Amino acid sequence: MSVPTSSAERERLLANPGFGRVFTEHMVRARWTKDGGWSELQLTGYAPLQMDPGTSVLHYAQAVFEGLKAFQQSDGGVAAFRPDAHARRFRRSAARLALPELPEQAFLDAIDMLLEVDREWVPTAPDHSLYLRPLMYASEVTLLVHPSEDVELLLIASPSGPYFPRGVKPVTVWLSEDFSRAAPGGTGSAKTGGNYAGGLLAQAQAAEKGCDQVVWLDSREHRWVEEMGGMNLCFVFGAERPARLMTPALTGTLLPGVTRDSLLVLGRDLGYATEEGQISVDEWRAGCAAGTLTEVFACGTAAVITPVGTVKSAHGSWTVGDGGAGPVSMRLRQALVDIQRGAAPDPHGWLRHVRVSSGR
Ligand code: COI
Repeated sequence: MSVPTSSAERERLLANPGFGRVFTEHMVRARWTKDGGWSELQLTGYAPLQMDPGTSVLHYAQAVFEGLKAFQQSDGGVAAFRPDAHARRFRRSAARLALPELPEQAFLDAIDMLLEVDREWVPTAPDHSLYLRPLMYASEVTLLVHPSEDVELLLIASPSGPYFPRGVKPVTVWLSEDFSRAAPGGTGSAKTGGNYAGGLLAQAQAAEKGCDQVVWLDSREHRWVEEMGGMNLCFVFGAERPARLMTPALTGTLLPGVTRDSLLVLGRDLGYATEEGQISVDEWRAGCAAGTLTEVFACGTAAVITPVGTVKSAHGSWTVGDGGAGPVSMRLRQALVDIQRGAAPDPHGWLRHVRVSSGR
Protein backbone atom coordinates (compact mmCIF):
# COMPACT_ATOMS: atom_id res chain seq x y z
CA MET A 1 0.00 0.00 0.00
CA SER A 2 1.30 3.46 -0.81
CA VAL A 3 1.59 6.03 1.98
CA PRO A 4 -1.21 8.64 1.89
CA THR A 5 -0.09 12.10 0.83
CA SER A 6 -0.18 14.58 3.71
CA SER A 7 -2.55 17.50 3.29
CA ALA A 8 0.42 19.91 3.38
CA GLU A 9 2.10 18.03 0.51
CA ARG A 10 -1.17 17.90 -1.42
CA GLU A 11 -1.68 21.65 -1.02
CA ARG A 12 1.89 22.20 -2.23
CA LEU A 13 1.28 20.06 -5.33
CA LEU A 14 -2.07 21.72 -6.03
CA ALA A 15 -0.58 25.22 -5.80
CA ASN A 16 1.23 24.87 -9.11
CA PRO A 17 0.31 21.58 -10.78
CA GLY A 18 1.04 22.45 -14.42
CA PHE A 19 -0.79 20.15 -16.84
CA GLY A 20 -0.69 16.35 -16.47
CA ARG A 21 2.33 16.20 -14.19
CA VAL A 22 0.73 15.52 -10.79
CA PHE A 23 -1.42 12.45 -10.17
CA THR A 24 -3.86 11.60 -7.41
CA GLU A 25 -3.47 8.76 -4.91
CA HIS A 26 -5.74 6.19 -6.51
CA MET A 27 -6.66 4.66 -9.83
CA VAL A 28 -9.36 2.35 -11.11
CA ARG A 29 -8.54 -0.82 -13.02
CA ALA A 30 -10.46 -3.51 -14.85
CA ARG A 31 -9.43 -6.36 -17.09
CA TRP A 32 -11.11 -7.80 -20.15
CA THR A 33 -10.39 -11.21 -21.58
CA LYS A 34 -11.75 -12.73 -24.74
CA ASP A 35 -13.17 -15.65 -22.81
CA GLY A 36 -14.37 -13.91 -19.65
CA GLY A 37 -15.37 -10.39 -20.77
CA TRP A 38 -15.00 -7.46 -18.34
CA SER A 39 -14.02 -7.93 -14.70
CA GLU A 40 -15.41 -5.80 -11.90
CA LEU A 41 -13.87 -2.34 -11.50
CA GLN A 42 -11.18 -2.30 -8.86
CA LEU A 43 -9.99 0.73 -6.91
CA THR A 44 -6.26 0.58 -6.12
CA GLY A 45 -3.46 2.90 -5.04
CA TYR A 46 -1.84 4.85 -7.89
CA ALA A 47 1.22 2.80 -8.78
CA PRO A 48 3.58 2.03 -11.68
CA LEU A 49 2.66 -0.86 -13.94
CA GLN A 50 4.84 -3.86 -14.43
CA MET A 51 4.84 -4.97 -18.04
CA ASP A 52 6.29 -7.88 -19.95
CA PRO A 53 8.43 -6.47 -22.81
CA GLY A 54 6.36 -8.65 -25.14
CA THR A 55 3.11 -6.85 -24.23
CA SER A 56 1.25 -6.17 -27.45
CA VAL A 57 0.55 -2.44 -26.93
CA LEU A 58 4.29 -1.69 -26.76
CA HIS A 59 4.67 -2.99 -30.30
CA TYR A 60 1.45 -2.37 -32.18
CA ALA A 61 -0.10 0.55 -30.26
CA GLN A 62 -3.56 -0.97 -29.86
CA ALA A 63 -4.78 1.54 -27.29
CA VAL A 64 -7.35 4.32 -26.82
CA PHE A 65 -7.86 7.04 -24.24
CA GLU A 66 -10.21 9.80 -23.16
CA GLY A 67 -9.73 13.19 -21.53
CA LEU A 68 -12.43 14.83 -19.41
CA LYS A 69 -12.55 17.12 -16.43
CA ALA A 70 -14.09 17.31 -12.98
CA PHE A 71 -14.68 20.73 -11.49
CA GLN A 72 -15.03 22.14 -8.04
CA GLN A 73 -18.57 23.56 -7.92
CA SER A 74 -19.43 26.95 -6.50
CA ASP A 75 -21.73 25.18 -3.97
CA GLY A 76 -18.79 23.11 -2.65
CA GLY A 77 -19.56 19.89 -4.56
CA VAL A 78 -17.68 18.24 -7.41
CA ALA A 79 -19.01 17.47 -10.89
CA ALA A 80 -17.65 15.82 -14.03
CA PHE A 81 -18.43 17.50 -17.35
CA ARG A 82 -20.29 15.37 -19.90
CA PRO A 83 -18.83 12.00 -18.84
CA ASP A 84 -21.62 10.26 -20.79
CA ALA A 85 -20.42 11.85 -24.06
CA HIS A 86 -16.85 10.80 -23.27
CA ALA A 87 -18.05 7.27 -22.46
CA ARG A 88 -19.69 7.05 -25.89
CA ARG A 89 -16.59 8.32 -27.68
CA PHE A 90 -14.44 5.86 -25.70
CA ARG A 91 -16.62 3.05 -27.03
CA ARG A 92 -16.38 4.31 -30.61
CA SER A 93 -12.60 4.72 -30.36
CA ALA A 94 -12.29 1.21 -28.91
CA ALA A 95 -14.39 -0.26 -31.72
CA ARG A 96 -12.14 1.39 -34.34
CA LEU A 97 -9.02 -0.03 -32.68
CA ALA A 98 -10.55 -3.53 -32.42
CA LEU A 99 -10.66 -3.21 -28.63
CA PRO A 100 -13.63 -4.27 -26.47
CA GLU A 101 -16.25 -1.57 -25.80
CA LEU A 102 -16.55 -0.61 -22.15
CA PRO A 103 -20.24 -0.32 -21.16
CA GLU A 104 -21.08 3.34 -20.54
CA GLN A 105 -22.29 2.62 -17.00
CA ALA A 106 -18.90 1.10 -16.10
CA PHE A 107 -17.16 4.23 -17.44
CA LEU A 108 -19.40 6.41 -15.24
CA ASP A 109 -18.99 4.11 -12.22
CA ALA A 110 -15.20 4.28 -12.55
CA ILE A 111 -15.33 8.07 -12.49
CA ASP A 112 -17.64 8.11 -9.46
CA MET A 113 -15.33 5.69 -7.62
CA LEU A 114 -12.21 7.74 -8.24
CA LEU A 115 -13.78 11.12 -7.55
CA GLU A 116 -15.23 9.94 -4.30
CA VAL A 117 -11.93 8.70 -2.93
CA ASP A 118 -9.69 11.43 -4.42
CA ARG A 119 -12.13 14.30 -3.95
CA GLU A 120 -9.54 16.32 -2.00
CA TRP A 121 -7.43 16.48 -5.16
CA VAL A 122 -9.96 18.51 -7.14
CA PRO A 123 -8.33 21.95 -7.43
CA THR A 124 -10.27 25.02 -6.37
CA ALA A 125 -8.22 27.67 -8.22
CA PRO A 126 -9.86 29.34 -11.24
CA ASP A 127 -8.80 27.67 -14.52
CA HIS A 128 -7.76 24.54 -12.61
CA SER A 129 -9.60 21.21 -12.64
CA LEU A 130 -9.11 17.50 -12.13
CA TYR A 131 -8.25 16.09 -15.54
CA LEU A 132 -9.51 12.50 -15.81
CA ARG A 133 -7.71 10.13 -18.13
CA PRO A 134 -9.39 6.77 -18.88
CA LEU A 135 -7.29 4.49 -21.09
CA MET A 136 -7.39 0.98 -22.45
CA TYR A 137 -4.58 -1.02 -23.95
CA ALA A 138 -3.71 -4.40 -25.43
CA SER A 139 -2.14 -6.28 -22.51
CA GLU A 140 -1.75 -9.68 -24.14
CA VAL A 141 1.85 -10.85 -24.26
CA THR A 142 2.30 -11.71 -27.91
CA LEU A 143 4.04 -10.52 -31.02
CA LEU A 144 1.16 -11.72 -33.18
CA VAL A 145 -0.57 -8.86 -34.95
CA HIS A 146 -4.15 -9.52 -33.90
CA PRO A 147 -6.80 -7.93 -31.67
CA SER A 148 -5.56 -8.47 -28.14
CA GLU A 149 -7.32 -11.20 -26.18
CA ASP A 150 -6.34 -9.51 -22.94
CA VAL A 151 -7.04 -5.82 -22.33
CA GLU A 152 -6.36 -3.54 -19.39
CA LEU A 153 -8.55 -0.55 -18.48
CA LEU A 154 -7.21 2.21 -16.26
CA LEU A 155 -8.60 5.49 -14.98
CA ILE A 156 -6.11 7.95 -13.54
CA ALA A 157 -6.58 11.59 -12.56
CA SER A 158 -4.33 14.62 -12.69
CA PRO A 159 -5.04 17.92 -10.93
CA SER A 160 -4.14 20.42 -13.62
CA GLY A 161 -3.87 24.07 -14.49
CA PRO A 162 -4.31 25.49 -18.00
CA TYR A 163 -2.98 23.35 -20.86
CA PHE A 164 -1.34 26.42 -22.37
CA PRO A 165 0.49 28.12 -19.48
CA ARG A 166 0.01 31.47 -21.22
CA GLY A 167 -3.74 31.08 -20.67
CA VAL A 168 -6.01 32.53 -23.35
CA LYS A 169 -3.24 34.46 -25.10
CA PRO A 170 -3.69 33.86 -28.85
CA VAL A 171 -1.50 31.24 -30.49
CA THR A 172 0.36 31.40 -33.81
CA VAL A 173 -0.28 28.39 -36.03
CA TRP A 174 1.61 26.68 -38.86
CA LEU A 175 -0.39 25.18 -41.73
CA SER A 176 1.19 21.80 -42.30
CA GLU A 177 1.57 20.76 -45.92
CA ASP A 178 4.43 18.31 -45.41
CA PHE A 179 2.54 16.05 -43.02
CA SER A 180 -0.99 14.68 -42.60
CA ARG A 181 -2.73 13.71 -39.37
CA ALA A 182 -5.39 11.45 -40.81
CA ALA A 183 -6.68 10.08 -44.09
CA PRO A 184 -10.10 8.74 -45.11
CA GLY A 185 -10.57 5.27 -43.67
CA GLY A 186 -7.83 5.80 -41.08
CA THR A 187 -8.04 6.33 -37.33
CA GLY A 188 -8.46 10.12 -37.30
CA SER A 189 -11.83 10.07 -35.56
CA ALA A 190 -10.59 7.76 -32.77
CA LYS A 191 -8.80 9.01 -29.69
CA THR A 192 -5.75 6.82 -30.00
CA GLY A 193 -2.14 7.57 -29.15
CA GLY A 194 -0.81 6.91 -32.64
CA ASN A 195 -2.61 9.98 -33.97
CA TYR A 196 -0.71 12.09 -31.45
CA ALA A 197 2.64 10.34 -31.97
CA GLY A 198 2.31 10.88 -35.72
CA GLY A 199 1.76 14.59 -35.12
CA LEU A 200 4.85 15.26 -33.05
CA LEU A 201 7.20 15.83 -35.98
CA ALA A 202 4.77 18.29 -37.56
CA GLN A 203 4.48 20.05 -34.21
CA ALA A 204 8.29 20.27 -34.07
CA GLN A 205 8.28 21.74 -37.58
CA ALA A 206 5.69 24.30 -36.49
CA ALA A 207 7.93 25.28 -33.57
CA GLU A 208 10.89 25.65 -35.96
CA LYS A 209 8.77 28.07 -37.98
CA GLY A 210 8.16 30.11 -34.84
CA CYS A 211 4.62 28.79 -34.30
CA ASP A 212 2.91 27.42 -31.19
CA GLN A 213 0.75 24.83 -32.89
CA VAL A 214 0.28 22.92 -36.12
CA VAL A 215 -2.93 23.13 -38.15
CA TRP A 216 -3.89 19.97 -40.00
CA LEU A 217 -5.26 20.13 -43.52
CA ASP A 218 -6.97 17.35 -45.47
CA SER A 219 -4.50 14.71 -46.61
CA ARG A 220 -5.58 14.64 -50.27
CA GLU A 221 -5.22 18.28 -51.32
CA HIS A 222 -3.77 20.02 -48.25
CA ARG A 223 -6.43 22.59 -48.90
CA TRP A 224 -9.30 22.06 -46.43
CA VAL A 225 -8.81 22.96 -42.78
CA GLU A 226 -9.35 20.08 -40.32
CA GLU A 227 -7.93 20.57 -36.80
CA MET A 228 -5.24 22.22 -34.72
CA GLY A 229 -2.78 20.00 -32.83
CA GLY A 230 -5.01 17.91 -30.56
CA MET A 231 -7.97 20.30 -30.73
CA ASN A 232 -10.85 21.25 -33.02
CA LEU A 233 -11.08 24.64 -34.73
CA CYS A 234 -13.95 27.09 -34.93
CA PHE A 235 -14.32 30.08 -37.27
CA VAL A 236 -16.37 33.18 -36.42
CA PHE A 237 -17.85 35.23 -39.23
CA GLY A 238 -19.25 38.73 -38.73
CA ALA A 239 -19.33 41.06 -35.79
CA GLU A 240 -20.54 39.88 -32.41
CA ARG A 241 -24.17 40.39 -33.31
CA PRO A 242 -25.07 38.62 -35.48
CA ALA A 243 -22.04 36.35 -35.62
CA ARG A 244 -21.94 32.95 -37.30
CA LEU A 245 -19.85 30.07 -35.99
CA MET A 246 -18.53 27.46 -38.36
CA THR A 247 -16.53 24.39 -37.36
CA PRO A 248 -15.20 21.87 -39.90
CA ALA A 249 -17.67 19.00 -40.36
CA LEU A 250 -16.84 15.55 -39.01
CA THR A 251 -15.77 13.86 -42.20
CA GLY A 252 -14.28 10.82 -40.48
CA THR A 253 -10.77 12.25 -40.31
CA LEU A 254 -11.49 14.70 -37.46
CA LEU A 255 -11.83 13.95 -33.77
CA PRO A 256 -15.44 14.55 -32.66
CA GLY A 257 -14.59 16.86 -29.76
CA VAL A 258 -16.95 17.08 -26.79
CA THR A 259 -16.00 20.74 -26.32
CA ARG A 260 -16.64 21.32 -30.03
CA ASP A 261 -20.11 19.82 -29.64
CA SER A 262 -20.78 21.80 -26.43
CA LEU A 263 -19.84 25.08 -28.13
CA LEU A 264 -22.16 24.41 -31.06
CA VAL A 265 -24.99 24.06 -28.52
CA LEU A 266 -23.90 27.05 -26.42
CA GLY A 267 -23.40 29.14 -29.54
CA ARG A 268 -27.05 28.57 -30.47
CA ASP A 269 -28.10 29.32 -26.87
CA LEU A 270 -26.26 32.65 -27.10
CA GLY A 271 -28.06 33.53 -30.33
CA TYR A 272 -25.32 32.81 -32.85
CA ALA A 273 -25.92 30.94 -36.09
CA THR A 274 -23.90 27.71 -36.00
CA GLU A 275 -22.81 25.46 -38.79
CA GLU A 276 -20.67 22.41 -39.47
CA GLY A 277 -19.09 23.11 -42.82
CA GLN A 278 -15.78 23.43 -44.58
CA ILE A 279 -13.23 26.14 -45.13
CA SER A 280 -10.18 26.17 -47.37
CA VAL A 281 -6.89 27.85 -46.57
CA ASP A 282 -7.59 30.40 -49.34
CA GLU A 283 -11.00 31.20 -47.84
CA TRP A 284 -9.44 31.59 -44.38
CA ARG A 285 -6.89 34.06 -45.71
CA ALA A 286 -9.36 35.97 -47.91
CA GLY A 287 -11.93 36.16 -45.09
CA CYS A 288 -9.37 37.71 -42.75
CA ALA A 289 -8.24 40.16 -45.44
CA ALA A 290 -11.84 41.22 -46.15
CA GLY A 291 -12.73 41.44 -42.44
CA THR A 292 -15.62 38.98 -42.80
CA LEU A 293 -13.82 36.24 -40.85
CA THR A 294 -13.37 37.96 -37.52
CA GLU A 295 -12.19 35.33 -35.03
CA VAL A 296 -10.74 31.82 -35.02
CA PHE A 297 -10.29 29.66 -31.96
CA ALA A 298 -9.22 26.16 -31.05
CA CYS A 299 -11.33 24.17 -28.63
CA GLY A 300 -10.76 21.02 -26.61
CA THR A 301 -11.20 19.60 -23.15
CA ALA A 302 -7.64 20.36 -22.10
CA ALA A 303 -7.31 23.81 -23.67
CA VAL A 304 -10.99 24.92 -23.43
CA ILE A 305 -10.93 27.83 -25.95
CA THR A 306 -7.67 29.17 -27.28
CA PRO A 307 -7.75 32.04 -29.79
CA VAL A 308 -5.70 31.81 -32.98
CA GLY A 309 -4.01 35.17 -33.59
CA THR A 310 -1.62 34.60 -36.49
CA VAL A 311 -1.46 32.06 -39.30
CA LYS A 312 1.77 31.10 -41.07
CA SER A 313 2.30 28.83 -44.05
CA ALA A 314 4.85 28.15 -46.78
CA HIS A 315 2.92 30.68 -48.89
CA GLY A 316 2.70 33.58 -46.45
CA SER A 317 1.31 34.80 -43.14
CA TRP A 318 -1.73 36.70 -41.97
CA THR A 319 -3.42 37.91 -38.83
CA VAL A 320 -6.92 36.99 -37.64
CA GLY A 321 -8.82 40.14 -36.67
CA ASP A 322 -6.48 42.34 -34.67
CA GLY A 323 -4.48 39.28 -33.55
CA GLY A 324 -6.05 39.33 -30.09
CA ALA A 325 -8.75 37.29 -28.33
CA GLY A 326 -12.12 38.16 -29.90
CA PRO A 327 -15.35 38.93 -28.05
CA VAL A 328 -17.31 35.93 -29.38
CA SER A 329 -14.53 33.51 -28.38
CA MET A 330 -14.34 35.00 -24.91
CA ARG A 331 -18.11 35.04 -24.46
CA LEU A 332 -18.39 31.38 -25.42
CA ARG A 333 -15.49 30.50 -23.14
CA GLN A 334 -17.11 32.23 -20.19
CA ALA A 335 -20.47 30.59 -20.85
CA LEU A 336 -18.84 27.14 -20.94
CA VAL A 337 -16.68 27.68 -17.86
CA ASP A 338 -19.65 29.06 -15.89
CA ILE A 339 -21.66 25.89 -16.55
CA GLN A 340 -18.68 23.66 -15.76
CA ARG A 341 -18.15 25.33 -12.38
CA GLY A 342 -21.80 25.53 -11.43
CA ALA A 343 -21.77 29.34 -11.64
CA ALA A 344 -24.57 29.26 -14.28
CA PRO A 345 -27.57 26.94 -14.77
CA ASP A 346 -26.91 23.66 -16.59
CA PRO A 347 -29.89 23.53 -18.97
CA HIS A 348 -28.52 20.59 -20.98
CA GLY A 349 -27.75 18.36 -17.98
CA TRP A 350 -24.03 18.23 -18.76
CA LEU A 351 -22.77 17.97 -15.19
CA ARG A 352 -22.62 14.68 -13.32
CA HIS A 353 -22.52 15.56 -9.64
CA VAL A 354 -20.54 13.22 -7.49
CA ARG A 355 -21.78 11.90 -4.18
CA VAL A 356 -19.21 12.94 -1.65
CA SER A 357 -18.95 11.36 1.76
CA SER A 358 -16.44 13.83 3.25
CA GLY A 359 -16.20 17.57 2.69
CA ARG A 360 -13.02 19.53 2.86
C1 COI B 1 -7.92 16.95 -24.49
O1 COI B 1 -8.25 18.06 -24.90
O2 COI B 1 -8.43 16.43 -23.48
C2 COI B 1 -6.92 16.17 -25.17
O3 COI B 1 -7.04 14.99 -25.14
C3 COI B 1 -5.82 16.88 -25.83
C4 COI B 1 -4.48 16.47 -25.35
C5 COI B 1 -4.20 16.79 -23.91
C6 COI B 1 -4.15 15.06 -25.70
